[in-house]
Amino acid sequence: MSVSAVILAAGEGKRMKSKLPKVMHKIASRSMICHIIDLIKNLDIKQTVAVIGPNMEILREHILAQGLPIKCTVQENRLGTADAVKIGLKSIGQDCGDLLVLYGDTPFISAATIDRMKVLLGANSKNALVILGFEMNSPSEYGRLMVNERNELQAIIEYSDCTIEQREISLCNSGVMLINNAYLSKLLDGVKNNNAKKEYYLTDLVEIAIDNGLLCQYVAVTRDEAIAINSREELSAAEHVIQTKLREEFIKKGVTLIDKNTVYFSRDTKIENDVIIYPNVFFGSDVEVKTGAVIKSFSFLEGVSVGSNVSVGPFAYLRPGAELRENSQVGNFVEVKGAVIGKNTKVKHLSYIGDAEIGDDVNIGAGTVICNYDGFAKHKTIIGHGAFIGSNASLVAPVEIGSGSIVGAGSVITKNVPDYALSVARADQVNREDGASAIKDRKSKTASAKKKLL
Ligand code: UD1
Ligand code: MG
Repeated sequence: MSVSAVILAAGEGKRMKSKLPKVMHKIASRSMICHIIDLIKNLDIKQTVAVIGPNMEILREHILAQGLPIKCTVQENRLGTADAVKIGLKSIGQDCGDLLVLYGDTPFISAATIDRMKVLLGANSKNALVILGFEMNSPSEYGRLMVNERNELQAIIEYSDCTIEQREISLCNSGVMLINNAYLSKLLDGVKNNNAKKEYYLTDLVEIAIDNGLLCQYVAVTRDEAIAINSREELSAAEHVIQTKLREEFIKKGVTLIDKNTVYFSRDTKIENDVIIYPNVFFGSDVEVKTGAVIKSFSFLEGVSVGSNVSVGPFAYLRPGAELRENSQVGNFVEVKGAVIGKNTKVKHLSYIGDAEIGDDVNIGAGTVICNYDGFAKHKTIIGHGAFIGSNASLVAPVEIGSGSIVGAGSVITKNVPDYALSVARADQVNREDGASAIKDRKSKTASAKKKLL
């Protein structure tokens, strides 16, 4: 049976205390909704619809920008999760196959888990649905799964409707649910809002199915996979969970993390084996690091490609579009943005390299600044292979520095430099014989005259 998915993301997320829709908050530099979209990409899904709230245009744009054919539909009044699913169904139609319900605030579910749910649902034609549950020691406000002696699900009781004894149950509802297409509309039509919150609860489907002589099953995963985010506290807990997982994955792949607890990765970070990462390094989204590279402490990388055997940092700031080719070195207090640093090229100290193409075997002296912005637009700088840029040079873009050329220290370069030329653009030095002694003499005479007057 084919499967379609509905992602519930219309909730206001009040507990986040944020103007941003809850599912747009990031974990491992990726929005919660993008984590769910990544899951969809790994599944064989016929149609996907996201149910969003009114005034969430920003979320609609964010979802559409991911490039998958995901429909967005608005739930005008947030009447509960069952109401949201009905609204989602309207836009994909009954011919959707089995329905996978995903919660936008539950971002770490794996494709393997959904496959387990599919297999279980298909095992018996009387199975109405499969719920994803998880065990938790101190389970707080999650709905609780009631299971009979045959391990079949009998009911889900929302936390606010639980008795004190029911709150002791450690098997919780993650919210993720796979519903058999054969019973879908019948079950949804049976949901009422006679509960503590006066909402249409999707979780009521279980009891409705049982009343109709059908069966309900569950699959259990760890709390780390089923973690949901309703508050900043939980956002921080989820960040901790995913960072721990990513660190372990990289270590297993052959990456050295000198102090693993201080290195932060993005969900999409790609690092090859034999890379060494010093303490306190942050990888934002879209970073790739090739084998043999060393990333030293206090470096921040985002949207960057680091070639093999490259050395980065300490204290490097690598921004989107930076491409560091093999054996290059980008050292302390160097910022690179939208620029290629060629093979064996060195930018070792105190430099800004923006919107540039730097060839191979170039030496960029300490304090070199590429002046890429004139207050109105950004301009490009090209530096040919083997050029030598003296310390404290300012290269005013647009400008081209030829291959094999030398730029004198302290130069302000505003015109192109031909290949193999020497370019010096600074005031001539003036030396006055005995000038220093003359100044010192004059100053000390004035000082002693002032003292006499006091
Ligand atoms: C829900 C479950 C609870 C489960 C918990 C797991 C229900 C009734 N309760 O509780 O059993 O343990 O998730 O995290 O399902 N949403 C809408 N429209 C609505 C209401 C909610 O789209 O009218 C969306 C929210 O954006 C969210 C999801 O549905 O993504 C769940 O809603 P939320 O309010 O977070 O439910 P919980 O109280 O966490
Ligand atoms: Mg929730």
